[in-house]
Amino acid sequence: MPIFLDSSITSEIKKFHKMGIIRGITTNPTIMFKDGVTGGMDGIKERSKEIADIVKPYPVSVEVMTNDRDGMIQQAKEFSKWATNINIKITAHGPNGELVNFEVVHELEKVHNIRVNTTAMMSAQQCFLAALAGSTYVSIFGGRVNNMGYNCCDEIQKLRTAIDDFDLKSKIIVGSTREVLNTIEWLNAGAHIVTIAPKLLEGMIVHPYTKETVQMFLSDAGKIKSMLNK
Ligand code: E4P
Repeated sequence: MPIFLDSSITSEIKKFHKMGIIRGITTNPTIMFKDGVTGGMDGIKERSKEIADIVKPYPVSVEVMTNDRDGMIQQAKEFSKWATNINIKITAHGPNGELVNFEVVHELEKVHNIRVNTTAMMSAQQCFLAALAGSTYVSIFGGRVNNMGYNCCDEIQKLRTAIDDFDLKSKIIVGSTREVLNTIEWLNAGAHIVTIAPKLLEGMIVHPYTKETVQMFLSDAGKIKSMLNK
């Protein structure tokens, strides 16, 4: 399941899903806001259900909208009922380093049987601990790591080694794509999944030299066709 789409735009999701090249969707409140989701929690529910229906049985990550302990649990329970393929994003900690989040991850996975994608992580060590807490997916934000001046490939390699060595079940998702090159580079470094912005996925498909080559085929095909008609 190497490629997820990092988007909540249903037309983009349908387009790539029909091609058979995506195996899941990731969203977050910022993506939903940028993608024009309105109508409060009802709007989020409606869009999430729509996305889940398009790609089922592939997974869709929907993030909680609070960092309050009970609020996260309550929203996770509610969101995961919207569709069987919805899993819940919980950030690694709160905006001030609040430590309650791993406890929430652990409780959701072990007590409530809810699949969790622990998110907004910037290092192998954060992801390793989220994996130990029982998270189904651990998300490291590759582009943001690179923008801080570190090579995220080093973190991905270290993380994959630790996950394999300790036989942990978590799948590594690398998000925060910034360049077309990111996907192959990060999969090669050891990511199980890269979640890609729609524009970059399109950029992986379309190549200027392919365009030129196809144009050559079509114009030569036209020449042959016109010869047959003579
Ligand atoms: C991953 O699951 C996130 O949705 C996403 O990739 C975050 O990336 P950003 O750095 O573009 O916000």
